[in-house]
Amino acid sequence: MSGPNTNYDPVQVSALDEASVFDMRDAALAAINAAIDLAGLKEVRSSHVGDRSPLALANREIGALPPQARKDAGSRVGRARAAVAQAFEARQAVLEDEAQERMLLEERVDVTLPWDRHPMGARHPITMLSEKIADVFVGMGWEIAEGPLVEAEWLNFDALNLGPDHPARTMQDTFWVDPPEDHLVLRTHTSPVQARTMLTRKPPIYVACPGRVFRTDEYDATHSPVFHQVEGLVIDKGISMAHLRGALDHMLQALFGEGMRTRFRPSYFPFTEPSAEMDMVCFICHGSGQQDEGECRTCRGEGWIELGGCGIVNPRVLIACGVDPEVYSGFAFGFGIDRLLMFRHGVADMRDIFEGDIRFATPFGVEL
Ligand code: DAH
Repeated sequence: MSGPNTNYDPVQVSALDEASVFDMRDAALAAINAAIDLAGLKEVRSSHVGDRSPLALANREIGALPPQARKDAGSRVGRARAAVAQAFEARQAVLEDEAQERMLLEERVDVTLPWDRHPMGARHPITMLSEKIADVFVGMGWEIAEGPLVEAEWLNFDALNLGPDHPARTMQDTFWVDPPEDHLVLRTHTSPVQARTMLTRKPPIYVACPGRVFRTDEYDATHSPVFHQVEGLVIDKGISMAHLRGALDHMLQALFGEGMRTRFRPSYFPFTEPSAEMDMVCFICHGSGQQDEGECRTCRGEGWIELGGCGIVNPRVLIACGVDPEVYSGFAFGFGIDRLLMFRHGVADMRDIFEGDIRFATPFGVEL
């Protein structure tokens, strides 16, 4: 049996002598300092720092030395490896900082540069408000209905209890469509969609109908021959004026916030009985008519803003549209969207809504 190798020849393990270890260390340090980027440093790791580097291999040799030589060689190699590891980390930190700085410089965006892209257009504020109103009703479980802009005279008038001799028929200044024998009009209100809906669907009916309407009005700051309305129609069993009021108040609160409410004033419409004009409380002065110790500028001191008409659907309309008034009752309302937009956003001249100037529409695009 052989004993431990007690008298070794230091020449045989020259890889662990001082000069060799210093050479390995210096070669590693030189390579580390020569690495100019992180990719280069990564290569240095495998050739001079990692498990297969000369110093790591030398480290493994230590165990084969006789005991009296191990300590010396161990501390020599250990110090060399520590120096290399430290230099490596320091270089890595420097190169990482450099890489970060380079990235910030290369990916720099000058946010002050002028904008070179022009928007193609903007959604029209009337479209957005109509959709917002429609959304409120959809949220209540209603459906959205639409009808044609060129409408049958019968649906625009007769079905709604506005017979040929009815005095109210002349109240809506109508655009007639040629030839006269076709009996077509540009719809004067969205109410014919009520008739269309009852004729095509079975109750219960819960619909809202936003859309464009036409009258031979002057074109000025408060009138336009084309404008927009929203019609509402509910036909169900046991429907009353209270349901109407609740639906309208809910809509106004959704659009203008807490505390909004309506006021009904007795009125006349051929298609509803009883009928009412509906006003909404002014969302600026909340009904007081006062603002900054003067008259409220939004409602002109009234405290209320006129919205439109409403009422309980006239049984004659139900019959004309095939609904049994003994079983069903309903409410209807119709109001202008343009005026609502003008109040809501302080639009002073109605013509701005219709002129199609993108500078008018764009600011509404940021509405949340
Ligand atoms: N169609 C009416 C108008 O344009 C507004 C209206 C009034 C609609 C009463 C209704 C209603 O549905 O019940 O002046």
